[in-house]
Amino acid sequence: MTESSYHTPIMLSQVLELLSPERCMATVDGTLGGGGHSEGILERLPAGAHHFGIDRDLDAINAASERLSKYEGFHPIHGNFFDMKDILPLEEYGIQAVDGILLDLGVSSHQLDDGSRGFSYGQEAPLDMRMDRTAPLSARDVVNGYDARKLFEIIRDYGEERFAYRIANAIAEAREKAPIETTTELAEIIKAAIPAPARREGPHPARRTFQALRIEVNSELAGLAEAVKNAAMLLSPGGVMCVITFHSLEDRIVKNVFRELKDPCTCPPSAPICICGKKPIAEILTPKPITADEDELLSNPRARSAKLRAIRRIHI
Ligand SMILES: C[S@@+](CC[C@H](N)C(=O)[O-])C[C@H]1O[C@@H](n2cnc3c(N)ncnc32)[C@H](O)[C@@H]1O
Repeated sequence: MTESSYHTPIMLSQVLELLSPERCMATVDGTLGGGGHSEGILERLPAGAHHFGIDRDLDAINAASERLSKYEGFHPIHGNFFDMKDILPLEEYGIQAVDGILLDLGVSSHQLDDGSRGFSYGQEAPLDMRMDRTAPLSARDVVNGYDARKLFEIIRDYGEERFAYRIANAIAEAREKAPIETTTELAEIIKAAIPAPARREGPHPARRTFQALRIEVNSELAGLAEAVKNAAMLLSPGGVMCVITFHSLEDRIVKNVFRELKDPCTCPPSAPICICGKKPIAEILTPKPITADEDELLSNPRARSAKLRAIRRIHI
C-alpha cells in the first residue's frame, strides 16, 4: 500500500496555515490515521520540537509509524484522544502545554476500503466496524442486541435516515430467524426495507444506516464535546486547535464548544455586569467553517462533507 492510498489528508494546506507548525515546539494529532496531516506538520516543525500522533486503531499507528519514523520528534500513541490529557507523556519531555492540536474526525479511507473491517456495505465481511479492534462493542452486538426502539433512534439521529423506523423494524424481524452476521446480509435487509422509488435515488440505501452504526459502535459523538474542551485546555497561550468534521451533528458539537470557549460567561443576559467571573478561553479563527475547494473536491470526493473549524487559545 502506498502512503497516499491509506488516506489522503483533507484541507492539508488550510490546516497547516492555521496551525503554523514553524512556531510550535509541541503539537498533537489526535487522529493520526495514515499520517498525512502529521507529515505536513513534522516537515515544518523546528528542530527539537515534539509531535504526538494518537490513534485508537493499531493499523493506523503501525502504518503512520513506518511512514514517519524518519522524524526524530514523532511519538505515536495507541489510544483514544478523548483521554488526551492522560495519555500524552508531556511531563516526560518537560512540556507544559502544546502549541497546536489537530482532530480530523471519523474514519480513514483505509478503514472504509479494508473489506475485512466491516465498515463497508459493499464488501462481504463480519459485522465489526470497531476502529479499535480491542474495544468490546462491535456492530454485530448493536445490530443483534439493541432493541428496535434504540436501533430506530440511532439510525434516525446518527444516520439522519428518513426510513429509520422501517429499517429498525426490518432488522428486528430478520434477526428473529437467525442473528445477522455480515455486512452484505445487513445491506440487503436495509435495501428491502426502503420503498422502491427511494432506493433508486441518491446514495446506496445502506449508507446512512452503516454510518449510524459506526458512530454508535465507536462512541464518536457521546463525550465529544467534553473531549474537545479538554483538548483546548492543553493549549499554550496562542496555541491553535483545528477540528475537521464530516457529519452535521459532529460539526454542531464542535461549533458549540468553540462558542462556549469564546464566551463561557453564564450570567443572565439581564445582568448589568458579569458576576460569574468566567473569562474567554479562546478566540474563534473560523467564524464560518472552511470547506474544501473545487480542485480538492475533484481529486478527493471524500472531502465533500468536511468542515474545518479552528480556535486560538487566549493569553490570560
Ligand atoms: C479521518 S482519519 C484521519 C486521517 C489523517 N488525518 C491522515 O492525514 O491520514 C481518522 C482517524 O482517527 C481515528 N480516530 C477516530 N476517532 C478517534 C478517537 N476518538 N481517538 C483516537 N483516534 C480516533 C480513526 O481510527 C482514523 O484512523
